[in-house]
Amino acid sequence: MTKHRLLFLALLAGTSVGAAHAQNAPMRGAAMQAAPAVDPAPRDPALRPVFETFGGKAGLVALVDDFMANLMADPRTRPFFAPVDREHVKTELVDQFCVILDGPCTYTGRNMEQVHRGLDIHRSQFNALVEDLQKAMDKHRIPFRAQNKLLAKLAPMHREVVTK
Ligand code: HEM
Repeated sequence: MTKHRLLFLALLAGTSVGAAHAQNAPMRGAAMQAAPAVDPAPRDPALRPVFETFGGKAGLVALVDDFMANLMADPRTRPFFAPVDREHVKTELVDQFCVILDGPCTYTGRNMEQVHRGLDIHRSQFNALVEDLQKAMDKHRIPFRAQNKLLAKLAPMHREVVTK
């Protein structure tokens, strides 16, 4: 495992997503009953060059194809994806990644809390999914810096996805 990866997994493990925590903390206190849903596809105009590095929307479609193949080949994640409409999930993932990277797309899927509620996802399974995404990005020769830009946007979502 490379240094980049270790760093990133440390980030996932919890403590150092400080900025996001700081942003959320006051909201939690003030809106205990009806916390607004976290944006599942936060557009970041600064990431447009990264969108190009990923090969635009066509690049994302090819990437997510391999990502889903990895998820299905991985015994840690396969049980979650085997029973669902994987073509639909792929379409939503492409749109989600596309919007995050400021591509010309619209994300029409549900928010991350709604989608993953009741799936009982453990942190180790979240980390497995990230590894499967990294493997797909490596195959598509996405440079580490670009990989980490996308992963940094996805990492804070563990708070909504991991429920076990
Ligand atoms: C940052 C991490 C993740 C992101 C960005 C993400 C994103 C998404 C998106 C966009 C969808 C489709 C939404 C829709 O249909 O409206 C989805 C569905 C799904 N995700 Fe995730 N996901 C993440 C982590 C995980 C993990 C760790 C697992 C399990 C190991 C998982 C299992 C599923 C399953 C089973 C569905 C299909 C649910 C259904 O059709 O009812 N996801 N995810």
